[in-house]
Amino acid sequence: MVLMVAALILAPAVGAQVFETTPKSEAVPVGNAQNGKRIFTAYGCYQCHGYEGQGAAAAGPRIALPSLALPEFAAYVRQPAGQMPPYTKKVVADSEMADIYAFLQSRPKPPLAKDIPLLND
Ligand code: HEC
Repeated sequence: MVLMVAALILAPAVGAQVFETTPKSEAVPVGNAQNGKRIFTAYGCYQCHGYEGQGAAAAGPRIALPSLALPEFAAYVRQPAGQMPPYTKKVVADSEMADIYAFLQSRPKPPLAKDIPLLND
């Protein structure tokens, strides 16, 4: 356990991919948000979804914070149902998908309308 915690702390520094063991002992990748930010820009996700995943009028919906769990998120990106182009494993590897997901999860929550003074005048 101590080793695993150390690995989780050290991983971002060395850019390694860390796998957490679930009770079913399936490997669940833990993404690196910093690398995910780089990929999100390099692979053009930002062009339709905005640099923060905030969405852009008529181009792509808000995807940060993600409403889907990682497996559904990845499945959608691999096989979108609408206008979005598909990204195969050759283009976005599973580990990169986890990084993108971690980046989107790390975005700040948008404030509630009731907490924005201009909207409550
Ligand atoms: C050419 C524009 C475009 C690009 C580039 C693009 N998307 Fe999309 N994306 C869309 C649109 C439009 C939708 C809305 C549904 C649809 O038409 O497929 C969408 C939907 C999604 C959804 C589903 C949202 C939900 O909550 O149902 C996810 C997840 C997503 N995109 C992630 C990504 C990621 C990750 C990348 C980069 C690897 C990416 N997209 C690149 C246009 C784009």
